[in-house]
Amino acid sequence: MKMIVAIIQPHRLEEVKEALYAAEVNLITVSEVLGHGRQGGNTEVYRGNRENGNLLRKIRLEIGVNEDYVEKTIEAIIRGARTGDVGDGKIFVYDLAECVRIRTGERGGEAIG
Ligand SMILES: Nc1ncnc2c1ncn2[C@@H]1O[C@H](COP(=O)(O)OP(=O)(O)OP(=O)(O)O)[C@@H](O)[C@H]1O
Ligand SMILES: [Mg+2]
Repeated sequence: MKMIVAIIQPHRLEEVKEALYAAEVNLITVSEVLGHGRQGGNTEVYRGNRENGNLLRKIRLEIGVNEDYVEKTIEAIIRGARTGDVGDGKIFVYDLAECVRIRTGERGGEAIG
């Protein structure tokens, strides 16, 4: 199992959600976060998302998947999030040791999807 964490532009969230649902990825956590990449928050086109000095408003997605969903999840995020401009975001993939569905006690691959 992997945990896929993606930081995307807020204005691409709807497109990313649609691309994920089209790829049958339906379980997701979404957070509002602040950050900057290698431009230090200075050169991104201003879209009303500057929050705190050089920190920009971004959306963080967390998606836990079985191995056979890793690539299609990454591809769906890229399809929804890419504009070609700086600040489009980044995808991080972590090894995921365990997942437990609290309601049933299921674990691992049974619990994650
Ligand atoms: N190495 C990193 N560690 C932690 N967060 C990061 C890292 N790189 C990017 N981020 C987060 O992702 C957001 C989007 O990054 P961004 O797309 O600007 O990356 P970049 O490396 O600057 O690439 P680009 O040149 O395409 O802008 C940042 O605002 C920050 O929140
Ligand atoms: Mg950047």
